Amino acid sequence: MRAIQSWLLAGLLLACYRQEARSFPDFDALKQARPAAPRKVSGVSVSEADYQRILRWGAKWFRSETFGGERMITDVVGFLNAPIQVPCAGTDPERPDCVETHSSVPYFVRAIDALDGVPNNLYAGNGGFEGKGATHDLVIRFPRGSRLHGLPLPEAVHTGLDVEAGSAWPIGIVPIEAPPEEAKLPYIWDLAALGVGPAPEKGKNVRIGIACALCHYSLDVDWDGISDLQSADIDRPTPGSAYRPEHSWAIGNQDLKVGWLFGMSQNPLVGFSIFSGPIGVSDDDGAALRWVRWVKDNYRRAPEMVTREVVRGMLLQPRGYADVSSNARYNASQFPPLFTQEYWPSNSDGAVLNGLDRNSVVWTSTMDFSGLVSLAGDRGSSASGGLYWEKKAIYNAFTARELAELMVYLSPGGRGEPARRDALRDDILGASDGVPGMLAPDSVYVMPGPPGVMPDSLLRHPKNVAAGRIRRAADYAAQYPGDALNRGATLALLGIRTHTRPQIAREIGLAELVKRYPGLSADDFMGEAVNVSLDWQPSPPNQSLRLARASKLVARGYEVFKSEGCAVCHRGPFFTDNRIHRFSARRADEIGIAPPSTAGFRSLGRGSGPAIGSDPNRTEDSRPLYLYVAPSYDPKTGVAVAKGSPLRGLFGNQVVGYKTTQLRYVWGSAPYLHDGGVGVAIRPGAELDHDDLPAVLRVPDAQKLFGMSQILARQEAAPEAWLRPDAALSLQALLLESERAKMLAHASDRVIPVPGVGSAENPLGAPAFVSARELGIAGIGHDFYLDDTPGGERITALIAFLLSLDDAPGELPSEVP
Ligand code: HEC
Ligand code: HEC
Repeated sequence: MRAIQSWLLAGLLLACYRQEARSFPDFDALKQARPAAPRKVSGVSVSEADYQRILRWGAKWFRSETFGGERMITDVVGFLNAPIQVPCAGTDPERPDCVETHSSVPYFVRAIDALDGVPNNLYAGNGGFEGKGATHDLVIRFPRGSRLHGLPLPEAVHTGLDVEAGSAWPIGIVPIEAPPEEAKLPYIWDLAALGVGPAPEKGKNVRIGIACALCHYSLDVDWDGISDLQSADIDRPTPGSAYRPEHSWAIGNQDLKVGWLFGMSQNPLVGFSIFSGPIGVSDDDGAALRWVRWVKDNYRRAPEMVTREVVRGMLLQPRGYADVSSNARYNASQFPPLFTQEYWPSNSDGAVLNGLDRNSVVWTSTMDFSGLVSLAGDRGSSASGGLYWEKKAIYNAFTARELAELMVYLSPGGRGEPARRDALRDDILGASDGVPGMLAPDSVYVMPGPPGVMPDSLLRHPKNVAAGRIRRAADYAAQYPGDALNRGATLALLGIRTHTRPQIAREIGLAELVKRYPGLSADDFMGEAVNVSLDWQPSPPNQSLRLARASKLVARGYEVFKSEGCAVCHRGPFFTDNRIHRFSARRADEIGIAPPSTAGFRSLGRGSGPAIGSDPNRTEDSRPLYLYVAPSYDPKTGVAVAKGSPLRGLFGNQVVGYKTTQLRYVWGSAPYLHDGGVGVAIRPGAELDHDDLPAVLRVPDAQKLFGMSQILARQEAAPEAWLRPDAALSLQALLLESERAKMLAHASDRVIPVPGVGSAENPLGAPAFVSARELGIAGIGHDFYLDDTPGGERITALIAFLLSLDDAPGELPSEVP
């Protein structure tokens, strides 16, 4: 009987597993370019002229839309507005007798003003487009001996922010004019008082917000440490540049130091669970929860100490990575390039199926992370109790009210002003306006979301009823037939869903557009336009001499790629099967999840199987999401085919693992894998022709720096030296077992300095150094190796092919430009 049961079960699993990926039987990557994205919005065909308008709007909103998040970023976080302790003039900066406290804002704006070499013209053109004042790495300078929340500040902080020539603001940091009645509040930026020249006529008093582009744009397209473009404006190409402005869109800001930016806030405490955590402890689950309780128990009693420790953890976030999971553990993800056309589900763990739902959840949780209050113990986390075998989420340590109180305790808006502090807390809780978090209520709907996140009483708050703000999945069923009901809770992962902002709908004449194209969704138009621009976006062509000289190897490399089975997963024009590959056979068995179909898959060399085996951190964090809410989907279309539920988690195709990464632009996006763990650099000063691919791959070990511990440590010591992993050597370490082993031997090197150990109090006993491994950068897994030696014929050809991947891999650069 038992045997029959398990046989039946196996049959059932297989039956559920027949969701095949799209096959591209005759596709030839070297003869065929990427098909253009269809000229459609919400599935509706539009005219070429309207398509061009819509994709430009989408790009603009990706760059500058905040949905009202500036109130969180300015009033609660106090972003870039940190108190800096500066040694008084005339004292020894090493041992100052006296310190003065200044805001970091003037230092920040002065750094931008200085880009064109002319002081005091920041809001008067700042050198203009011809001024050549663009940078891909804004450097903020501080007096020697300055401190940030008690920790030493370097004299030159390399932020990795990109600024276009003539611009007063970095890409992705957005000034929003404050209403007149709030203009004089102390935490509103008064541009006239910053000492960088006369303020603009309009918008002298502003809040600042952040937009998607902050993490996802770069003016240094080829990652050689030199800005390739003066502007990312599609209508403003840079004369003489090898790249078009749109090549800078959404390629991943690989030198952004998110830790410095958020550490440089007045109230970095709010980011405690996302960007910080206990330092240098092993993957012991209890450590994060214990650390979170320490923060909770001490922030009122000893705010400076707790802030310092939170910031210490933040500053450890490596350059070019962000930790986007709020679990008080280090699990860095690289900033991936966003070529979203026919590429789903979103994120390395594939946790969010639908592009609209993804945009909404990023707007509601990243532009305004006070929305995370929905995860507190008496809201979203209460439901995870059903998953008794999962480890406890850190949010169990807080009620929503306690979490909101922590967020606002040291906020610029609430500091020393109990009434304003309470008002901010109530706003975050949704108690005052029915909407959890601080986004503009006129730009969001409230929805039930996953179990618990949106208590019914809050959903039916009188203001939500009065404003007609309540939506359910069924309300989207006509718009997205079938799919919306299956997407269910993922329509609003935190219980709120953004919709087109009313003032923007008016500005662009959206009503007219919807009349012209029946079927267009007015509500989802902003989210759709962002998707249109991301889907359209070209991937930058590799124009390097290195590829030009290796161009004869590319066709042979494609043969190797196919014969080794790479194309089974990295298939078709988008180099992906759009499937999630479980991260380890053992782990998958433990939690009873079906392995992916192996039909058509040829085993690749030693120790390999279809399991991906890369660092489990990222997927572990999304497991409750998979198990409870993630719908099963059809890899061919990205459409949800069955609702998420714990049972679906067991029997559906939504396995816990990693999505097959698309491969366009791998020539520019080293290090590799979602955790950016596979990286090898050429040692500075090595004598070597960098343009000679076979020579680079054969360079002796002594000339290489293996692993991200070593590379990140050197970047910290000398950010201006621009040491980066080399794409070819890193691919070789991904694909040759011997090279990977050498790299992994260094993954645990404890060489990355922990800020302030030795020069500031250290109550939690943080070690002086950590390894990349301890930051969640492991570089393990994806064990699909070639049988070859470094610089051997097959690996060299394969790497030449990989370096050629862009929208038209067959069009290769020539040696004579
Ligand atoms: C704080 C930095 C940051 C901001 C701001 C940000 N992202 Fe991301 N984004 C990331 C990181 C890091 C990842 C990778 C996550 C992963 O690997 O799972 C990511 C992943 C993505 C992906 C998935 C790519 C893939 O390979 O599947 C898309 C699409 C995306 N972001 C779009 C957006 C949009 C749209 C916005 C604004 C609404 C935005 N991002 C704002 C950091 C950011
Ligand atoms: C079983 C499916 C599968 C096979 C076979 C496979 N890959 Fe992958 N590949 C993946 C997945 C999944 C990832 C993402 C893993 C992660 O991020 O942890 C990936 C990631 C990559 C990356 C990293 C991209 C980046 O931007 O970080 C490269 C490069 C790559 N694969 C190349 C290859 C090559 C070359 C082969 C053949 C030798 C191959 N893959 C075989 C599934 C596969």
